[in-house]
Amino acid sequence: MALLLRLVLLCGVADFTRSLRVTTPEQTIEKAKGETAHLPCKFTLGSEDHGPLDIEWLLSPADNQQVDQVIILYSGDKIYEDYYKDLKGRVHFTSSDLKSGDASINVTNLQLSDIGTYQCKVKKAPGVESKKIQLTVLVKPSGTRCYVDGLEEIGNDFKLKCEPKEGSLPLRYEWQRVSESQKLPTSWLAEMNSPIISVKNASTEYSGVYSCTVKNRVGSDQCTLRLNVVPPSNRAGTIAGAVIGTLLALVLIGLIVFCCRKKRREEKYEKEVHHDIREDVPPPKSRTSTARSYIGSNHSSLGSMSPSNMEGYSKTQYNQVPSEDFERAPQSPTLPPAKVAAPNLSRMGAVPVMIPAQSKDGSIV
Ligand SMILES: *[C@@H]1O[C@H](CO)[C@@H](O)[C@H](O)[C@H]1NC(C)=O
Ligand SMILES: *[C@@H]1O[C@H](CO)[C@@H](O)[C@H](O)[C@H]1NC(C)=O
Repeated sequence: MALLLRLVLLCGVADFTRSLRVTTPEQTIEKAKGETAHLPCKFTLGSEDHGPLDIEWLLSPADNQQVDQVIILYSGDKIYEDYYKDLKGRVHFTSSDLKSGDASINVTNLQLSDIGTYQCKVKKAPGVESKKIQLTVLVKPSGTRCYVDGLEEIGNDFKLKCEPKEGSLPLRYEWQRVSESQKLPTSWLAEMNSPIISVKNASTEYSGVYSCTVKNRVGSDQCTLRLNVVPPSNRAGTIAGAVIGTLLALVLIGLIVFCCRKKRREEKYEKEVHHDIREDVPPPKSRTSTARSYIGSNHSSLGSMSPSNMEGYSKTQYNQVPSEDFERAPQSPTLPPAKVAAPNLSRMGAVPVMIPAQSKDGSIV
């Protein structure tokens, strides 16, 4: 009985020492797209393994139900590559002496299609064993854009957004303030690890430079934005002021051109019909009437922009707080003139131009 037990034990031990062993220190490997993955595989031969040494790596791709594909093979002291077209030229044994027990491979320039289960299989008859390694390829976050979605105005609500162009999930975000106190406003802290910070009732203290860092398991990316919270009317006023100013300049130019032409035409007319004109009609008077008639005809177009008419527009514009409407076009460089508050017109000098035009008849040219 004891002898039998000893025999079994001996066999077991003998069997154990004799057999071919394959070891892979890592079962899962995660790498970034474009990088090189090192798939380690070591083996030890048993004393009874006398056949020729064969090493093969097989791939079971994750994205389809294909049977295992041979990707690289060592047999009869020769290496055979390029079995699998998706990995063409990208799989190599890393050891120059495979017989020494190192069957590891490198997969270079990793692609998402390389994701799958890799199997290292070593044969030296009668010994044969294989081990599997899971390879995951992740995309690093990149092309991250930080921007303000909404109007950066005192009392306004807007959003700070952080958007990577690409990057494998899960992504982690972190907002930081890089200027002044380096402390995020307290009311933002709840969202400091979110891709969007919803700013409520903005104040000028929020102005500053902020950064957003996006990370996943294989890499990180960063962007910064400058926040400049200004009084509500300033921005719209400046833009609209420029628009109105341009319009007024055009009107003035038009007026001058119109008058000069009219004057020239009159002079020409006077020359031609000079002898027919009665002496008691003074030429200057006709010029005055010309100017008056022009301003009269122009009055209607100027009138549409007069402060009293603007009042209605501006009130409705600013009573309905610009929310979604403005958020959708945050960087819109121009606003239609209708959105100007009445005070802005006078601020940018519209009234001083118009008042003389209306009160002192014909004296503006
Ligand atoms: C295999 O890849 C690793 C990085 O993953 C690198 O350090 C090593 O030098 C590569 N070996 C060969 C032979 O290219
Ligand atoms: C907005 O903030 C100001 C101080 O910055 C405060 O006086 C006002 O009450 C706040 N409004 C709202 C609606 O919270």
